[in-house]
Parts: sequence; structure tokens; C-alpha cells
Amino acid sequence: MSYPFQIQSLDQYKQDYQRSIEKPEEFWLSVADSFFWKKKCQAGDKVLDWNFTEPKVEWFKGAKLNITENCIDRHLDKLADKPAIIWEPNNPEERVRVVTYKRLHKRVCQVAQMLKNNGVKKGDRVCIYMGMVPELAYAVLGCARIGAIHSVIFGGFSAQSIADRLDDANAEFIITCDGAYRGAKDIPLKSVIDDALIGNKKIKKVIVYTRTRTPVSMIKGRDVWWEDEMLHAEDQLEHSGEFNFPAEEMDAEDPLFILYTSGSTGKPKGVVHSCAGYMLWTTYTFVNVFQYKQGDIHFCTADIGWITGHSYIVYGPLSAGGTSVMFEGIPTWPDAGRFWDIVDKHKVNILYTAPTAIRSLMSFGSAPFEGKDLSTLKVLGTVGEPINEEAWHWYDEQVGKKRCPIVDTWWQTETGGVLISNMAGITPSKPGWATLPMPGVQPLLVDENGKEATEKNEDGFIKGNLCIKAPWPSILRTTYGDHERCRQNYFATYENLYFTGDGALKDEHGNYRITGRVDDVLNVSGHRIGTAEVENAINMHAGVVESAVVGYPHDLKGQGIYAYVIYNGTHGDEEMRRKDILQTVTRVIGPIAKPDKIQFVSGLPKTRSGKIMRRILRKIAEGETQNLGDTTTLLDPGIVEEIRSGKI
Ligand code: WT7
Repeated sequence: MSYPFQIQSLDQYKQDYQRSIEKPEEFWLSVADSFFWKKKCQAGDKVLDWNFTEPKVEWFKGAKLNITENCIDRHLDKLADKPAIIWEPNNPEERVRVVTYKRLHKRVCQVAQMLKNNGVKKGDRVCIYMGMVPELAYAVLGCARIGAIHSVIFGGFSAQSIADRLDDANAEFIITCDGAYRGAKDIPLKSVIDDALIGNKKIKKVIVYTRTRTPVSMIKGRDVWWEDEMLHAEDQLEHSGEFNFPAEEMDAEDPLFILYTSGSTGKPKGVVHSCAGYMLWTTYTFVNVFQYKQGDIHFCTADIGWITGHSYIVYGPLSAGGTSVMFEGIPTWPDAGRFWDIVDKHKVNILYTAPTAIRSLMSFGSAPFEGKDLSTLKVLGTVGEPINEEAWHWYDEQVGKKRCPIVDTWWQTETGGVLISNMAGITPSKPGWATLPMPGVQPLLVDENGKEATEKNEDGFIKGNLCIKAPWPSILRTTYGDHERCRQNYFATYENLYFTGDGALKDEHGNYRITGRVDDVLNVSGHRIGTAEVENAINMHAGVVESAVVGYPHDLKGQGIYAYVIYNGTHGDEEMRRKDILQTVTRVIGPIAKPDKIQFVSGLPKTRSGKIMRRILRKIAEGETQNLGDTTTLLDPGIVEEIRSGKI
């Protein structure tokens, strides 16, 4: 079965694209027709109200819905006994859990009841810090059921990062696990939460799900066990006549969730998405990009702590009535055949992963594929960073056996879902290119003056900074608690344009190739990390005077983190100092932000006004020794030679 809004051919793509640009309101209203509304957009209602100066974007305001009724209830008629989530544990020996739509409904209603019992109300912020267990999906959807705003934090962030986010979001509730399994490790999540809560007076309740049975401290009056609370909720619902927790009526524009992401300043921003636009976009793109058909098994390898997991493990697939594989572990444990095991075992049709994972698996050669049946695969996808041609071809040949289209999906936390990508089997792919915009998306490449870029590079491609001209339904609405920051960050660089922070090329057919960030944001293994954030963390180390962080090309991670550090402490030798700095970064941000290289320097190349010339530092980190460009404006040109000769 296909969906009413499913694009079936290249011609239809062209027509739909045209229509979506000429008559966006009409176009998205017709897509909205395939969803379940508590109150539809009425004739005469404004479908879209927007300006990019404030900025203000409102889609379907006044219409009412609950996203969980779209992800669950509306499927119960036909799909009650079909799997919504297939959960694959970290340890392949452990039992798989298959969660049908009926079971999902039951669990999400229980979570909603449990949250209510614990004092959570519509609009409250609930922080979720869990491993990849089905309960994480229940928690997310349970929040959405009662209209609470979830803010999921990836398990790799430190107590300090959690504390900052709790504070920024003014959160009063936390859902966590005792611990999480990841490969050979278990990560003591509750204990990290305990550290984050030292001195915190705002958190009223911490709900703890038992996964690893690691000992945890439970504070009376504040900490409760998920299992106890869920049993109690089940009892209440069982005695209520019908096992259902009525879904809260939400306005289309009510916030659905906050997700923190790094930018070019030191402080992560809480990106806010709203209910209806996000629902429409994740469903529409899920169905069209992957060409999902009822019954297909979709395996997105991301963590729900990132936007990819929100949109293409939970909301998109479930709203489409699909089956989503949720994987607790990592690609290389117990061996590098783990993904192929899962594809074989669950007869996966669509595999969606990151170039960094592909590159890492490439290095193991073809042995991990032996005896694994990958013939069910129909579509492959990538996300998170540009894919190099070598990895693209390996993915195509080894995994897809040259019969599966590869979709290269470009998007961001702020965009909610895919904006530029080919559509599997419908629009052509081009290795290394995200290719064409989705209907409703109007990209524009601009030069440094904000004018439409026209100049071509030596290959005949137009090169510029990637902007979007008009709002699509799931554009971010604000950054939590600080709307001005949202304006500054995304809408102030170029007038009347959303600026993505990415550079791109465009060919004569209108295909886009994303070349990477043009701001001070790094992309390490598909994760966004701000250089200023890492610098702040390094500078917190007692012996550090100043630091400058840049990215450099890294074979596996895409980009590595290179830190230049001025150190005046007396403690330990160089190696010890490096380790202490890494420990500090781990404490302040988390292990994901640890620099790959630390070079101690006596000074940094600065202009007379005190600005660090990152361009020079970047070139040195990249291994460029000759053309460092103009260094005459530097306060102390001599420092460049010292840094260059000390490169590691
Ligand atoms: C940044 C967004 C989108 C979910 C995962 C990352 C880079 C993302 C691609 C792609 C080239 C890509 C961009 C973007 N990026 N997808 N297909 N090709 N670059 O979300 O953490 O918000 O990061 O990831 O630089 O701005 P995110």
C-alpha cells in the first residue's frame, strides 16, 4: 500500500515540487488531509503565517491534534497486531522485543498516566536521559500524549552538560535508566543524573527504569522506580473501563519538544519544534525519501538522543504506521557484522546510517558479511555529514549489491526532517550529492554579501552559502527561552533568509552537494560540536591560559578535533597534561568532545585587535605547510613558524 501523498515518479516529483512552491498552503493542506485532527484547519483559517524578520512561522494555527493519536491510535483498526517497534538488544544473545501497535498504545497510555500521577502537566519540560530501550520511545510518546515537552539528552553527555540543559529548559522532571549497555561498556546513567542534580532545587521527580541493574542511589520523595509507577498506572487504567489515556488536545503550533544542539557560541541552543508541522514533515519525508511501503522494515541506526532518532526511528515511521527497528548497541560489538546480523535476522528493507559508521565498517573488509543474507534490503540511506565517494561505492556494492538506491539526506536538527535528498528509485542519485530539494523547500546559494551566488568554480558548479527562502512546515520555531538568539543565529546573517551554516555547490540540473559547515561548528562522526564549546571546556582546566580549537580531516570521523593550547601550569609532563585536559573536557561536555590532538604552543596567531586567525590554525591542522596566506596583519608573525614546526 502506498500513501496518498507518496510521489510515484520523477514527473510527479516535478509537478508536486512546482505546486508546493506556487501554492504552498493548498499543497500542505492536502497533505494534512491524510492525518488525524481533533479539529481541522477550517475554511478561512490562515494555513501559513510567517516572516523571517522576527522570525515568526505558524502552520495550521488553530487546528488541534495530538501527534500520538497519529502515531498510534489511528493505526489500531488495521495494524493492532503489527510490529511498531522491533527492539534489538545490545547483546545478540538477549531476547528481541517486538512491540505491536496495540502494545505500544497500552504502554504509552501507562506512561501518560504515570507522568500525570507524578505531577507532570501540559507544557512542563521533561528531560529524558536513557539508553536505547523501548521504554525511551514510550517515554517520548508518553510526554507527547499529555502535551509535556520532552527534551532528550544523548547518553554521551556529562553531568555538567545535563545540568546546563536542565537549567536552560527550566525542567522539573527527569526520566532515566539505572544504566545503559553500549557494546562492552555499561554506562551508569542515573549516577550521572545524580551528579547533575547536586544543588538542583527545581527537579521534582526522577523516574528510573531498570536496565543494567547497577546499584543506584534513590532519594526519598524525589526518585521513583519506573516499574512501580507503571504497575500502578496500569491498575488505574484497567479499572477505568477502557484502557486508554485520552490524548491532550494540542494546538498545531504548541511546542512538541526541545532538542539541544551546538552552534558557534559556547552554549548549546534548545531547538524547539511544534506539533503539526513536525508531524507532517517527518511523515511526508519518511514516506517519500525512503519510498516506504506498508509492511517494510525500517532500520535507522541513530540514537534517539539526536534528531535523526526522533524523526526517523520514532515519529516519522510510527505516524506512517511503519515498523521501526530500534538498536541498543553499536556497529562493531561483539563484532563488525552486527548491522548485517540485524538486517538478516529482522529482514530489514531500509537501512539508514551515517557515513562515519560506513567508513568504520569498511575497514573490516568483507569477512563480516559472510553467511549474512542482505537480500531483503531495498533502500539505503546516509545522513549527518558529506559522504566520500569511496564510502558511497562500498555501501552501494558491499551492502546494497548494486541493487539498492542510496539516498543522501541533508538536513539539520533545526529543519526537523530531510530538506535535500534524492528519493529512492524516483529521483536519480549522484554519489556525494544530496541532489534535489523536497517539495516545499526553496534553497538559495548566496555569496558573502547575501546576493544570489552566480560565480562558477573550476568544475562549473555554483558555490555559495546555503540558505532557504521560505518556511517549510517543520522549520524550528524558536530557541527555548531566547527568541532573539534564534533570530541572530539563523535569520540575521542574510535578510529574509534562513541560513543553514553550510556551504554547498549546485550543478546545472539544480542538484546540491553539501560541502560542510562554514561557521565554527565541527562535525565529528556526524555529531555537531561547537569549537567555542570545546575551547571553553579546555580553558576550565587550571593550567590552561588560552586555547583555540579547529577541525581537520579524519579518516573515520570525517572531522577530528585539533586543539592548540597555551599552558602555564607546572603540574606533570606533557602527556599527563594532555590527559588532564581530556578529562576536563569529558567532565564539562562529555567524551564525544574530546580533542584528537592537543598541541602546546607559546602563543596563538592573533590580529592586532586580538582576533584569533583560525584560518591559519585550520591550515596547519590540515597539514598545509606552504600556503598559509597573508600573515602580515598578525601581531606576532613569528608564532606561525613555531606552531607549524610543532604540528602533531
Ligand atoms: C549538520 C546538521 C541531520 C541529522 C543529523 C545531523 C551536516 C547532515 C548531511 C548530508 C552533508 C550533512 C550539515 C548540517 N549534514 N546531513 N547528507 N551531507 N552534510 O544533524 O547535528 O543538526 O547537524 O550536519 O553540516 O548542517 P545536526
